[in-house]
Order: sequence, then structure tokens, then C-alpha cells
Amino acid sequence: MVAEGHSWSLEGRTALVTGASSGIGRATARVFAAAGAHVFVHYFRGTDRARAVAKAIDAEGGSATLLGADLAAPGAAAEVARALSAAGRGLDILVNNVGDPIRRVAFAEVDEALLDQTVALNFKSPFLLTQALLPLLAERQGVIVNVSTALTRRAGSGGNLHYAAVKGAVNILTAGLAVELAPLGIRVNCIAPGAIDTELQARLSTPERLERSKARTLMHRLGKPEEIAQAILFAAAPASAYMTGQTIFVDGG
Ligand SMILES: NC(=O)c1ccc[n+]([C@@H]2O[C@H](COP(=O)([O-])OP(=O)(O)OC[C@H]3O[C@@H](n4cnc5c(N)ncnc54)[C@H](OP(=O)(O)O)[C@@H]3O)[C@@H](O)[C@H]2O)c1
Repeated sequence: MVAEGHSWSLEGRTALVTGASSGIGRATARVFAAAGAHVFVHYFRGTDRARAVAKAIDAEGGSATLLGADLAAPGAAAEVARALSAAGRGLDILVNNVGDPIRRVAFAEVDEALLDQTVALNFKSPFLLTQALLPLLAERQGVIVNVSTALTRRAGSGGNLHYAAVKGAVNILTAGLAVELAPLGIRVNCIAPGAIDTELQARLSTPERLERSKARTLMHRLGKPEEIAQAILFAAAPASAYMTGQTIFVDGG
């Protein structure tokens, strides 16, 4: 546990981490719990994986609650807001981590269904969830951390344009929300990861593609989910109290 009063401590805070059953979200939930937060571990299909995350947090002396929802479904944001209000723990930190390119296809082959799914998961879901949770966040002068992608800097070549363009909108959402929510005392920042060793990469990347991703970084390796979780912790903790509206690229250089 990080000592209370320390600027990296989340002691006494309540956090919702979306997509915490896997990859970056799972690492973030564990890092937040170790920093002292009560963590709502959100998941969709991975009930068992989410249970394992909550169990690991528990075993490490932390505290967590499971929260299942399909965030791409209509009405999901309001349901999550109702569940969090009913839990009565308030909300200090929202990490909008859920996202997925779904498929990697050339621009000419992106059909309307794929574009709609990409927008629903990567943009509409953080947009509507943030909106639905604003009253709770405003009560605590909370913090929002969005997760986009380092592809927003390279325009998402290699079958990722549909995804990179939509994640680019998350960077803009971050900057705009920071302006709009500053009067409420709410900070909003965004972490843009490079290629990270998670289930998403295992699902969508060939070994050759992963080698190319590694070669493009100054460190010649993929990032670890825990390395992104540490950046998210910084954006969520008092350590970053004077930072808002920023997108930070954590991509191995
Ligand atoms: N990995 C990378 O290289 C990389 C690079 C740049 C940016 N990112 C971004 O980082 C974030 C996390 O990525 P990751 O690599 O950790 O992905 P991941 O391992 O595939 O995990 C994705 C998480 O999102 C949840 N999810 C998927 N569809 C959902 C839906 N419809 N409703 C609610 N939850 C849903 C999954 O829940 P269930 O498994 O429970 O269904 C899972 O917890 C994403 O926004 C991604 O775009 C990743």
C-alpha cells in the first residue's frame, strides 16, 4: 500500500476501471487497488477473468467490486450509473479503458457495420459513460482518464485507420472535456499506449506484425500492461494535480 497523503496514493478513493477483466484494464485495477482505491472491476464477457482480478486484489489486501455491462449496448451507461449510485461509495476516478479495433482491414474494406461497432465501443461508450457518471464525479471533484492509442499520432496505418480515427476523437474529447469540466473541479487526461502485450494483440496481430511493432520503438519491445497502468495511475493520482486536457503517449519511444 502507498502511504496516505502521498501524492501517488489513492487511499479513500473509489475508482471505476472499464474493461478490467483483461490486459491494460486488469493491470490498472490491480495497481489502483494496491494504491489504496476501492475498485469497481468492470467486465463484459469475461466473468471468470473479472472474478480472478477481484480475487487477486482481495488476496493483496485491496478491495474490489465486480460490475458487468456491455458498454456498446444502448442504455448501458445509465445502468452503470444506477449500479454505482446504489453501491453508495461515490466515484472519484473513471478510467474509460474499453476499446478495440475489432478487425484490421484496409480502408476500402471497412463496411458500415464495422465502422458502427468501432464508434460504439471506442467513442460512444466513453462519451456516454462519462456523461452518465458526471453527477457522481462532480460530487467528489473527480478525475477522468481516457485510453486512446499511439496510432492517433501515426494516423493508424496497416488496417487500423477506422480505429485510429475514432480514437483520435477520444483525444479531442479529452481536451474539450477538460475545458468544460474544469469549473466543476474535474480533471480529464488521456493515455495513448503503443503496442502492449495483451489479449487484444494476441487476437489481432500476427507474429510478423508484432516484430514490426517492436522494431519501430526505441526500446525494441512491446509494452507491458503494468507500464500503461502506472501512467494511468499518475493521471488519476494527486501527483498530476496540475495536469488536465493532455494526451500522453506511452509507446516505448
Ligand atoms: N493492447 C494494445 O496494444 C493497445 C494499444 C493501444 C491502445 N490500446 C487500448 O487500450 C485499451 C485496452 O486494451 P487491451 O489491449 O487491454 O484490450 P483487451 O485485453 O482486449 O481488453 C479489452 C477489455 O474491454 C472489454 N470489452 C470489450 N468489449 C466490450 C463491450 N462491448 N462492453 C464492455 N466491455 C467490453 C473486455 O471485456 P471482456 O473480456 O470481459 O468481454 C476487456 O476487459 C483499449 O481501449 C485499446 O484500444 C491497446
